[in-house]
Amino acid sequence: MSEIKAKVLAKFQEVFGTAEGTKVYFAPGRVNLIGEHTDYNGGHVFPCALTIGTYGVAKKRTDGKLRFFSMNFERLGIVESSLDEFTPGGDKNWTAYPKGVMWAFEQKGMKMDCGLELLLFGNIPNGSGLSSSASVEVLTGAILRDLYGFEVSNQDLALIGQFSENKYNLVNCGIMDQFAIAMGKKDCAIFLDTSNLKYEYAPVVLKGAKIVISCSNKKRGLGDSKYNERRSECETALAELQKVVDIKSLGELDEATFEKYQDAIQDEVRRKRAKHAVYENQRTLKAVAALKAGNLEEFGKLMNASHVSLRDDYEVTGIELDTLAEEAWKVPGVIGSRMTGAGFGGCSVSIVKDEAVDRFIQSVGEAYQKKIGYAADFYVVEIGDGPVIL
Ligand code: GLA
Repeated sequence: MSEIKAKVLAKFQEVFGTAEGTKVYFAPGRVNLIGEHTDYNGGHVFPCALTIGTYGVAKKRTDGKLRFFSMNFERLGIVESSLDEFTPGGDKNWTAYPKGVMWAFEQKGMKMDCGLELLLFGNIPNGSGLSSSASVEVLTGAILRDLYGFEVSNQDLALIGQFSENKYNLVNCGIMDQFAIAMGKKDCAIFLDTSNLKYEYAPVVLKGAKIVISCSNKKRGLGDSKYNERRSECETALAELQKVVDIKSLGELDEATFEKYQDAIQDEVRRKRAKHAVYENQRTLKAVAALKAGNLEEFGKLMNASHVSLRDDYEVTGIELDTLAEEAWKVPGVIGSRMTGAGFGGCSVSIVKDEAVDRFIQSVGEAYQKKIGYAADFYVVEIGDGPVIL
């Protein structure tokens, strides 16, 4: 038995009295290599699941109670609720995520016939932009599927997770996070066309380099970020473009077509937002082609360009993420570095040559501490599989 499995089972026993009859599950976190803020614009994304994520210990009850405990929020103790207490937009703590998924299953005609006890432990830093919430959503879906016999595929788990995030937690997120987590595959990134959910696994062959996540430790939540605002700016820009060109989403445009029609967008800020969405989608196509051709240098350059666009045109970086990326670019042996996820805090992702990893952590870490006033954390990560029963 793995160390973590033993640890979560022991905790379940301590909190709920006995661990008899429980099952243990895991769902990963994710990092997006490139293709940021493209998923709600009908574009492409290129994320991968990680080997860090969320562990869940679950057991059905005979009544309708729901009893939750998180090892990441121990001070909250057991949070009690019940199957008739789903309040979209109304839950004030982490249980909003598992409850949102239970509610979403019910909305789709899959009603739990009894409650459960659920203990969670996540080894993804909370609110870091590595999708701890989507990880909890997909994990909950995988648990419900297994315990209640609901017939859903992993892709359904992604869609149900997104639905719960949109309608229960009121964050208008795209499909990327839940999809990357539910469909994760070891050592592969997922090249996903968000306009039709067609996808392809692309082996991430880094030839003597590693993926390093730098966590800014600036806390953020999507709800209080400007995420929904960016999304609506893109929707308005699309509506303006649709007056002059026949498209369903910004993802259908290439750079030249965008340049030709961009004047239809009446406002300079919205033009920049749309430009990012279009160019970032095209960069993602180029980056995947470069990776397939074994051209990691080109992949890295596209990552850097992605950050610049997110900084200057989409304006979702902030001084913390800019410092992480810009300091990374200075370090010899860094192939590429950019913010990842929604932005406004959270993490950056870098591809760093093996021999440069220590130097990277030291030099970016020192510069960050000096400029920002508190420390960043660094994780050398591996690409893992989707949800599993342990
Ligand atoms: C968050 C959302 C995703 C995606 C990214 C930005 O992670 O949940 O759907 O929009 O931001 O690329």
